[in-house]
Amino acid sequence: MSAPRHDPDQHRGAARVAMVGAGQLARMTHQAAVDLDVELRVLATSPDEPAVLAGAPHRFGGPGDWEALSAFVAGADVVTFDHELVPPSLLRRLEELCVPVRPAPDALVFAQDKLHARRALGEAGYPVPAFAPVEGRDDVLGFAAGHGWPVVLKARRGGYDGRGVTVLAAAAEVPGDLGTDGDGGPAWLVEAHLDLAAELAVLVARRPSGDAVAYPVVQTTQVAGICRHLVSPPELPPATLRRAEELALEVVETIGATGVCAVELFVTSAGAVLVNEVALRPHNSGHATIEANLTSQFHQHLRAVLDWPLGPTDLVAPAAAMVNLITPDASVHPAANLPAALAVPGARVHLYAKASRPGRKVGHVSALGPSATEALALASEAAAILLAR
Ligand SMILES: Nc1ncnc2c1ncn2[C@@H]1O[C@H](COP(=O)(O)OP(=O)(O)OP(=O)(O)O)[C@@H](O)[C@H]1O
Ligand SMILES: [Mg+2]
Repeated sequence: MSAPRHDPDQHRGAARVAMVGAGQLARMTHQAAVDLDVELRVLATSPDEPAVLAGAPHRFGGPGDWEALSAFVAGADVVTFDHELVPPSLLRRLEELCVPVRPAPDALVFAQDKLHARRALGEAGYPVPAFAPVEGRDDVLGFAAGHGWPVVLKARRGGYDGRGVTVLAAAAEVPGDLGTDGDGGPAWLVEAHLDLAAELAVLVARRPSGDAVAYPVVQTTQVAGICRHLVSPPELPPATLRRAEELALEVVETIGATGVCAVELFVTSAGAVLVNEVALRPHNSGHATIEANLTSQFHQHLRAVLDWPLGPTDLVAPAAAMVNLITPDASVHPAANLPAALAVPGARVHLYAKASRPGRKVGHVSALGPSATEALALASEAAAILLAR
């Protein structure tokens, strides 16, 4: 007797997850979903997005398109996100469809609105940079009169990778056209420019039940507001790292986030640890977890939003590093340099199938090592080969 044939139409995976967005985060979540036989589908805006090119089941539609969103989430066990672009009003309507939205709209607003996040975390007693809302030029001038120059001007919504963040050195640099946003509230905030000794990030995964785990702290290095590379563990006093982890776990609890969250922190030259911002999804600062930690952030995000047991987060080597592949312009083709980069022993290359453009993140390289310095040297060597003309 022949074995019964498996009917692919009858196949039911371990769970059904709808992820809004189809960028590199969705692409890497798709890889994790394959491992767990989770049926992940993504909402894409174009056929050339990274998750679509990786073969993730998809539908097309914009994050602000209610018809597309509601059809997309039908039949899913949970809806989650690879970006912060779904308007809060539509997030609330999604909840009314009785599909769990994780993280929930009240939590997501912390990632969508920098002014809300600063105010709410400041009022909850967390250390945050001195800041003020901005509805016009005078608000910036008034803040600088009290705190001194330079100041940092930030778009309240929509900024990423340093877009929407400008350091202003003097009154003459303050733009004249700072207005209110669509809701009539301030569209900007201004904050004190801190003298930074280091920037840290702590990934936290949290289940709807409240169970949460933190990953080992990473130290990120930004150039022009965009993360260039990171190492873990940072060479900083253990008390600083403990404080960062403690703050991250508390912040995520306060926000009530579910899934993976990244908490970005500033360490000032005076040694104070302040909360910068939160991302409520897998994050660039967690990319090294694919190779460097017992549970990658992408597996962990699926586990957390599905309310499944969380995995251990320990580093699997003494140290790890990750270097972002940021293309200077369209003349650089990392894929063409891939075989040469793979000749670097231990370099783990990830390409996102994105076209090269000035300042665009098109992939990353991770490496493990006996020390952060050695891991970073290895990842940097492969990254330089990938970015060669
Ligand atoms: N108050 C500040 N003082 C000094 N440097 C700052 C300050 N705020 C931001 N920066 C620098 O600018 C970078 C980008 O700022 P921030 O993280 O607020 O915005 P972002 O562009 O939205 O970031 P992301 O891409 O992580 O979402 C920080 O990582 C830091 O290097
Ligand atoms: Mg940031």
